[in-house]
Amino acid sequence: MPIVCRSLHRERAHGHWASVDWTIEHSLPASLLNPEARSTTDLGVRHRFWLVPTSCQSFHRLYAARVRALEDYRSEFPILEHTTYLINHSLAAMPRRAEERLAEYAGTWRERGIRAWGEGWWTMPMTVGDQVGRIVGAPAGTTVMHQNVAIAEAVVLSCYLPPDPARNRIVYERGNFPSVRYLYQAQPQLEVVVCRSDGEIVEAIDERTLLVPISHVLFKTGEIQDVGPIVRRAHEVGAHVILDCYQSAGIVPVDVTRLAVDFAVGGSVKWLCGGPGNGWLYVRPDLAERLEPTFTGWQAHEAPFGFEETMRYASGAARFLTGTPNVPGHYAATAGYDLIEEVGVERIRANSLRQTQLLLDLADDAGFEVRSPRSDDRRGGTVTVHVPDFPAVHRELTEREILCDFRPDAGIRLGPHYFTSDDELRFAIAQIGEIVETGAHERHLGVVAQH
Ligand SMILES: Cc1ncc(COP(=O)(O)O)c(C=O)c1O
Repeated sequence: MPIVCRSLHRERAHGHWASVDWTIEHSLPASLLNPEARSTTDLGVRHRFWLVPTSCQSFHRLYAARVRALEDYRSEFPILEHTTYLINHSLAAMPRRAEERLAEYAGTWRERGIRAWGEGWWTMPMTVGDQVGRIVGAPAGTTVMHQNVAIAEAVVLSCYLPPDPARNRIVYERGNFPSVRYLYQAQPQLEVVVCRSDGEIVEAIDERTLLVPISHVLFKTGEIQDVGPIVRRAHEVGAHVILDCYQSAGIVPVDVTRLAVDFAVGGSVKWLCGGPGNGWLYVRPDLAERLEPTFTGWQAHEAPFGFEETMRYASGAARFLTGTPNVPGHYAATAGYDLIEEVGVERIRANSLRQTQLLLDLADDAGFEVRSPRSDDRRGGTVTVHVPDFPAVHRELTEREILCDFRPDAGIRLGPHYFTSDDELRFAIAQIGEIVETGAHERHLGVVAQH
């Protein structure tokens, strides 16, 4: 069933506005279907889209001319010129434009000085947060930037401290990332209940449960978690869910509104290609107004430059901020977000499912054990290949400019992104086979992880 939209577009060369009706099939990237007018300048034209019932036109020709082939994006990532980059689940490849954004930051600092705060720097945690929000299905004004997930979760937790002794349980899964686990373990007033699976979490949640911090995709195994039943059970008993989307945002579609989670956190080092220092926090809009974080700072104040003696919380997600923002980090991050928005997460996911299936088939043919999920509904963006002495095999791969990583029990993690070619995947699996067969890794036996 085609979706019909009207586009107003201006050809740069002619500088005039023209109205064009397009018929868009459902395969169009969701990013282009945002009913709020949105624009991109990267395709040589400026578009504004909104959905209206209108007649069909020869959309395919227009669409094909304007949507870049995925392989075309390789030129956006300089490191692909000299490495096989399969570590996008850890530190994704840097977009070329991140460097330009950092130069822009330095130029603004140099030329605008103190005026830069009033010209966009101060509000960056909100404006950049809104861009992340668009990628994860959060309405404007509900997502803010933080340094990392540990801080974002600590801000959420601070709203609930000290806990009511009758509701002081934290229920989470063993596969949660350490930042999340350590934070809750370190609170003497809390009782932590550790579960082995998403199903067990549902069973463990009861009236004593305060918070349920879970991962959308588990970092070690790349397994997608069934979030819906957890949220339903938590809400039945008055508990709140914090969803860690670090391993899903940018590779697996996330819609925090549809999932009805109370909070969501994530970062940008991985699939969002945004680099370090770009953690983010989403707070359900109706909940935000009722909470008062005690881990706070002057950016959370309604009038920060009034320097009032006591706190008056800002409204919306801004009240979950702390102190001075990470301005250079936010400049760098938007280069990766722009590309994710341009390509569209639905399109990225379709390619990821195809390429991770290719990896599974290649690993099976080579006789390697795979410890990550196989089914589409459970498979995130990473495939883990468990071969004997995998830490040493990994080191040998690094020396051959094939960049990936490994985790205890899981094995070698391979994380292709939308700019990865199928040939790179064939090459990586063939190299692992060759290393294991020839024993080329044996000189590295005993190595430990460095990232
Ligand atoms: C699921 C998940 N959560 C969180 C993190 C990172 O936490 P933080 O931002 O506190 O460094 C990672 C990886 O770095 C991760 O894979």
